[in-house]
Amino acid sequence: MVLKPGLEGVPVTQSSICDIDGIKGELRYRGYPIAELASKSSFLETAYLLIWGNLPSSQELRDFENAVQMHRRLSFRVRDMMKCFPATGHPMDALQSSAASLGLFYSRRAIDNPEYIYDAVVRLIAKIPTMVAAFQLIRKGQDPIQPRDDLPYSANFLYMLTEREPDPLAARVLDRCLILHAEHSLNASTFSARVTASTLTDPYAVIASAVGTLAGPLHGGANEDVIAMLETIGTPDKANNYLNNAIAQKSKIMGFGHREYKVKDPRASLLQEFAEDLFARFGKDEMYEVAKAVEQNAGPLLGPRGIYPNVDFYSGLVYRKLGIPRDLFTPIFAISRVAGWLAHWREQLSANRIFRPTQIYTGEKNRTWKALEERANN
Ligand code: ACO
Repeated sequence: MVLKPGLEGVPVTQSSICDIDGIKGELRYRGYPIAELASKSSFLETAYLLIWGNLPSSQELRDFENAVQMHRRLSFRVRDMMKCFPATGHPMDALQSSAASLGLFYSRRAIDNPEYIYDAVVRLIAKIPTMVAAFQLIRKGQDPIQPRDDLPYSANFLYMLTEREPDPLAARVLDRCLILHAEHSLNASTFSARVTASTLTDPYAVIASAVGTLAGPLHGGANEDVIAMLETIGTPDKANNYLNNAIAQKSKIMGFGHREYKVKDPRASLLQEFAEDLFARFGKDEMYEVAKAVEQNAGPLLGPRGIYPNVDFYSGLVYRKLGIPRDLFTPIFAISRVAGWLAHWREQLSANRIFRPTQIYTGEKNRTWKALEERANN
């Protein structure tokens, strides 16, 4: 048996959802290039494409949008449960718990019933943003506000966060960010979703397990750390020194490196464009100059090893300009990635085999039991 830590390069499933060319820096959802989707599609249309396999007709899209709009509200029981969460808790933990709680309300485990599947998809896509926004208000001591039916998906999310109708550019940029983060093949959280799905448990457990996996700093959590790193560097002239020290100490540069991409992540380039659109309209962020200096100085240091900016490098700067608090960056990633997780949930169910890998045992064999009083250091 050959051990492959992190399953690097080991195919564990077949998938027709997302295709990555890490050498050319290309990403396609269901065959459509990511840049085209980000400029022409909406998040809900992209979610439909990912989950059901094809672009919707105008009627299908209208039905899907209406269904999502109808299910955006949370039961008072969920809101009351969230009010008992500690205000100091991380919003990803709040989201994982709230998403899991949906299973208490809607679980029938009727996963061979297309109507149940459609309803679960709609509920999860509809309610996750409401949960993120609700926790944000609750932890400030306020009551969550109801979604507004006249606002589209991303505009409504920003409204629920801030109680202000957002600027159309801000809402469109957020929607485009959600498109970019919606799917990325068999990353850690998606693998987690598929492992959970393979047990035939309910979709709320599938999504809750994926949210927990996304929370880690080596995965979705890196976008928070990028802003912290830029603030530590402080000014563009200090970027080179910081990088050299970090590399000498074998520390990771957050927002750099990817298991799949050996060039700049195409989503990082698009997010950089979105950031520049926002800066042109709402004013600059001084940390953007630091980020550009980090990217420029990292080129000769990390580029030869195929380590370039990933999706997390510029996303934090975009969210910051949208006025979103730092610890909501990863929950926003989750709002988007739920589309990919659900696509993989459906795909896993269509040809299921429970995941049960093997191990190479390295522990001791045949030890002799010792009574408590005979053990050393007692
Ligand atoms: N900064 C400095 N060196 C790096 C970085 C980095 N960001 N990423 C990888 N390397 C180096 C490692 O130190 C290692 O060097 P070594 O061979 O001398 O020990 C080599 O490149 C391989 O690194 P691994 O961590 O083994 O690469 P892997 O493919 O497993 O990791 C990962 C990919 C986890 C994303 C890694 O690049 C990393 O930790 N990046 C920083 C965290 C981050 O930005 N995460 C977000 C990823 S995107 C996402 O999940 C949404």
